[in-house]
Amino acid sequence: MNNILVTGANGQLGNEMRRRAAAGSRCAYLFTDVEELDITDLDAVRRCMAEHRIAAVVNCAAYTNVDKAEDDAARADAINHLAVGNLATACREQGAALLHVSTDYVFGGTGNLPFREEDAVAPLGVYGQTKWAGEQAVVASGCRHLIFRTAWLYSAFGNNFVKTMRRLTAERDRLTVVFDQVGTPTYAGDLADLLFHITEEGLYAQMQGTYHFSNEGVCSWYDFAREIAALSGRTCDIQPCHSDEFPSRVRRPAFSVLDKTKVKRDFHWTIPYWKDSLVKCIKELDLSNHQ
Ligand SMILES: NC(=O)c1ccc[n+]([C@@H]2O[C@H](COP(=O)([O-])OP(=O)(O)OC[C@H]3O[C@@H](n4cnc5c(N)ncnc54)[C@H](OP(=O)(O)O)[C@@H]3O)[C@@H](O)[C@H]2O)c1
Repeated sequence: MNNILVTGANGQLGNEMRRRAAAGSRCAYLFTDVEELDITDLDAVRRCMAEHRIAAVVNCAAYTNVDKAEDDAARADAINHLAVGNLATACREQGAALLHVSTDYVFGGTGNLPFREEDAVAPLGVYGQTKWAGEQAVVASGCRHLIFRTAWLYSAFGNNFVKTMRRLTAERDRLTVVFDQVGTPTYAGDLADLLFHITEEGLYAQMQGTYHFSNEGVCSWYDFAREIAALSGRTCDIQPCHSDEFPSRVRRPAFSVLDKTKVKRDFHWTIPYWKDSLVKCIKELDLSNHQ
């Protein structure tokens, strides 16, 4: 039986991994968050991996607050870059594989064709820069690795756009949401399904490289908000607006659709359409009486 370490396991993606392992698995999963294993501590990472004879690490830990990262660059770099280097170093030393998660924010967001893995990166802010540095640290370490760039992640766990929109559309009669940023939402459960398949089947021993993963389809944040409101039975009037109406210190990519041809081909994987996955998450939130 292979031992798999999941870091950052209290987050959106980590919780979805927990859920899959709880439903039955042939690997032994060790779920940790910063309390149990702070990935910025290289010695702690080394000790944990050696003690538990870890075959693969699924890194769900990250500094994900895009706005806050602008004022907290050192912390964002410590977690998204240097700590990822720690995991990669320990994986190389101990012959383990690293499954790491990155972001569409490594791209600058100009253009109108879905981004492929080999396209030039141009991160616009601290979050994207630190995540890109993390990717580079993984590759430079020489460890066996798989990097999955994902986008617009949401789930029933933690804070995300879906939960914010459900709250705001319940509280307000009218709302404006940007329509000039276009991408694809990703249900964390769908990404966890693929990562779990890879750990369960031991595919990390055969595969290596960078992959894009989001749900299928394309929408703006405005379209996403409309769909969330409709599925949640809200009557709030939602109108489109430009992103410059919401002053922010961070420029976000205007276009960050990811091309998933490679992941579908190499893993023989079918990815759900974003609206179908949103239905699943909204049902879950309704059942759990979440907003
Ligand atoms: N959320 C998105 O929209 C989005 C989009 C594209 C890509 N991604 C990427 O997808 C991955 C998963 O994102 P997510 O939304 O599931 O993240 P999340 O919900 O923010 O979870 C990240 C977890 O990592 C923990 N963590 C932070 N510092 C740590 C440390 N030093 N050691 C161990 N754990 C630490 C966090 O704890 P605290 O909460 O206490 O800090 C949190 O529990 C990340 O790599 C992220 O960059 C996310």
